[in-house]
Amino acid sequence: MSNDVIIEAWNTVLFDKFSRFKHLLIDGLSSHSEEALKRHKHSPGHKVLDIGCGFGDSTIRIAKSLGADGFAVGVDCASNFIRECELEAAKVNADNAKFLVADVEADDMGGPYDEAFARFGTMFFNMPGAAMRNIRLSLKPGGKFTQIVWRKREDNPWLYEAEVCVKSIVPVISHEDTDAVHCGPGPFSMSGPDMVSEMLRVTGWNRISFERFDSDICIGRNLEEAIEFAMSLGPAGEIIRLAEEEGERLKPQVVIALKEVFGKYQREDGGIWTPSSTWFVTAYNPD
Ligand SMILES: C[S@@+](CC[C@H](N)C(=O)[O-])C[C@H]1O[C@@H](n2cnc3c(N)ncnc32)[C@H](O)[C@@H]1O
Repeated sequence: MSNDVIIEAWNTVLFDKFSRFKHLLIDGLSSHSEEALKRHKHSPGHKVLDIGCGFGDSTIRIAKSLGADGFAVGVDCASNFIRECELEAAKVNADNAKFLVADVEADDMGGPYDEAFARFGTMFFNMPGAAMRNIRLSLKPGGKFTQIVWRKREDNPWLYEAEVCVKSIVPVISHEDTDAVHCGPGPFSMSGPDMVSEMLRVTGWNRISFERFDSDICIGRNLEEAIEFAMSLGPAGEIIRLAEEEGERLKPQVVIALKEVFGKYQREDGGIWTPSSTWFVTAYNPD
């Protein structure tokens, strides 16, 4: 499987969908990164690499914590995301946040960096082992890598319950059976600590550890928005998109079913808040 297909997906259809729901994504995902950055602080003056940086809000947040002597570099394979990052950094005068279009699996990412960070930026690699090795080689000896990845499906009902619901209505077309671009392995590809710790070990990392973090996140300011969000993003959104015309035709049925799924998560102000759960995975480049 070529990585070009995945890169094209992130630069086109997924970029458009992420842009549409940016307001929800940044708030929800930040609840995890704020806690991870509190527990795993970067030192002022350090150089930090932010892997799969998306809109770059985490890169800018890290850059600000490093002071004028340090800097953060956000890398992403999608040039459309990097353009947004550069515009935002200029808007908020984050002079020490820099951005680079690069495929983490294969490209030189500059460095050597003191530390690397990734908020949900490592689960979509075609060849995750190659990416883990490349990240390690961009760090100084002793450099720490902190990554945030989703834990198991059942503890992330905002994605999993939507996926089960959509699968019961829309026929599932496998990535292999379509020419359509797709996101890569998917949000739960790094949810298993045994597999992930082994992959990190064989790609040269040591002192590997996992910390669980749970946080309710808002996936819609009302039920309609949560349903649109679920039908666009994550495994449920991918099933509908890859089913093409049939997916579009079945959407009214999906809407009715998702009302029931997400209705139980509605708070008094109308917002839909669901549990979500991650691992903070830390590992070190040996000294
Ligand atoms: C789920 S998004 C996370 C974005 C951001 N870190 C956040 O938390 O909002 C995954 C990001 O990884 C990027 N990505 C996927 N494969 C990549 C690769 N091989 N090299 C670099 N970036 C990649 C995508 O373009 C996308 O921006």
